[in-house]
Amino acid sequence: MENYETHEYDVIVIGAGGAGLRAAIEASAQGASVALICKSLLGKAHTVMAEGGVAAALANVDERDNWQVHFRDTMRGGKMLNNWRMAQLHAQEAPDRVNELEAWGALFDRTKDGRILQRNFGGHRYPRLAHVGDRTGLEMIRTLQDRGVHLGIDVYMECTVARLLKDGEAVSGAFAYWREHGRFVIFRAKATVLATGGVGKAYRITSNSWEYTGDGHALAYEAGADLIDMEFLQFHPTGMIWPPSVRGLLVTEGVRGDGGVLLNNQGERFMFNYIPDTYRKETAETIEEADRWLAGDRSARRTPDLLTRDVVAKAINAEMKAGRGSPHGGAFLDISKTRDAETIKRKLPSMYHQFKELAGVDITKEAMEVGPTCHYAMGGVRVDAETAATTVPGLFAAGEVAGGMHGANRLGGNSLSDLLVFGRRAGLGAAAYAKRLSKALSLNPDQVEAVAREVQEPFNRTEGENPFTVHEKLQEVMERHCGIIREEQELREGLVELEKLKARAGRMRVTGNRDFNPGWNMAVDLHNMLLVSEALAKAALERKESRGGHTRSDHPKEDPAWTRVNVVIRRSGDEMAVTQEPIPQMPDELKRLFEEG
Ligand code: FUM
Repeated sequence: MENYETHEYDVIVIGAGGAGLRAAIEASAQGASVALICKSLLGKAHTVMAEGGVAAALANVDERDNWQVHFRDTMRGGKMLNNWRMAQLHAQEAPDRVNELEAWGALFDRTKDGRILQRNFGGHRYPRLAHVGDRTGLEMIRTLQDRGVHLGIDVYMECTVARLLKDGEAVSGAFAYWREHGRFVIFRAKATVLATGGVGKAYRITSNSWEYTGDGHALAYEAGADLIDMEFLQFHPTGMIWPPSVRGLLVTEGVRGDGGVLLNNQGERFMFNYIPDTYRKETAETIEEADRWLAGDRSARRTPDLLTRDVVAKAINAEMKAGRGSPHGGAFLDISKTRDAETIKRKLPSMYHQFKELAGVDITKEAMEVGPTCHYAMGGVRVDAETAATTVPGLFAAGEVAGGMHGANRLGGNSLSDLLVFGRRAGLGAAAYAKRLSKALSLNPDQVEAVAREVQEPFNRTEGENPFTVHEKLQEVMERHCGIIREEQELREGLVELEKLKARAGRMRVTGNRDFNPGWNMAVDLHNMLLVSEALAKAALERKESRGGHTRSDHPKEDPAWTRVNVVIRRSGDEMAVTQEPIPQMPDELKRLFEEG
């Protein structure tokens, strides 16, 4: 133990995207000593991929908006499976969090009378997304980063946390290594916040970058925390599909929010054929009405191009399968006919440059080719809505790694508001917990040594599997067996494949030493991806219905029997146990909002 670099804090935050930064800022503001640990560079987080905006019922563009409507939209989008208390707090507190961000220096686009401008997004009844062109997440990270750095939070960059450490039942710190030279580092902490994002890298086509390997989900599970709703995975309907090198890169929903329409290879606005009954009343059924809505006519109903993401992704998938897809296997997204070039460049500058530079497409003149891309995990660590505490003492979670808030499907823009609301609550919860602890927690040297031995194992083998080959195979298995559309036999076969991959991962070999060694980093990441993939496939097998981001071709309908049920994944010895648990009843005053709506 003495040989290891060791640091001690009241609160450590693992992950430095929006949720991690917001948690660290709040814990620090409460007087806690705080370390922010990230495996990448500060500022490089999936938060920047929420391009189109942050959802908050500010009512700047439509005065009919309020937290109750936002709450209702979020619950409907999540197919009523959300943790209703999280959805309520989220809708109530999002406006304050956005205004606070502005006070901290975020430069939002403006209405003519100088208020924060808001745009339309899928499933949001009114224009609700406060935005900065199509770079909202980036502006948010910049603002939070400035704030955190000025508060004096210690930042440990390019530092991977391999395991959480425990003192009895409580989490007492983390075992990590510096990616640059591989040296080990121990963090002792009274409270630990997980804010590590999602697990997109288990899939080949994803908007996520290399960091998103399910680290927090796996760390929490191994520490004994519950995972919920793991079967629900969001495929964003519009990722780039051409050229192959950029396949999966996000095309913001802001394109459709600002007037872009989806077309198949017959030139048909096919979304009119996919309006679910639950959204029929409020959705335009003719092109003429949809276009009036796009032109700002409040008496018209919303365009079906802005139905929720689960619906749009499946519609594109169905068009492709029916032979009506675009040349490279997707759909067309066209804004060139509905908006002039100057507006497109002003409202969607990143999209303009992204397509021009990466695909040679001028989106002011031609349609884009787009298709579904793995974007967001709705499932995650079970948390208490008020404090973001997990089921393990001393462990908190916020942002994408936490489950419950979004139910079966997340509305676009609700991730940025989620991470502000619950990042702050996690920071408060962790700081308060640390303050209450009377004694310093201890670390178990045997656990530390066991982790050190385990993570170095791939160096000890003279022959074995290449981690990159195992990763490639994992992506293939997840895409084939646990993709947008699932089916029992395929899931079962997928789980058999995952077992084989686990065995192969147990034989992985890396050469060289721990100095910046991509093969070794991948071996460590794979441990997490395999674990989370298994949880995902097992939960998907358990839920015998289709709902939101989980579609079963053998159970194609939503089943009321599953409406208020969480699928829970929990460690039981060496086994991954799967159970069903009822979701607590919503109080009457919240239920009434649905009757009124
Ligand atoms: O389409 C987008 O701009 C993504 C937003 C989100 O995932 O919240």
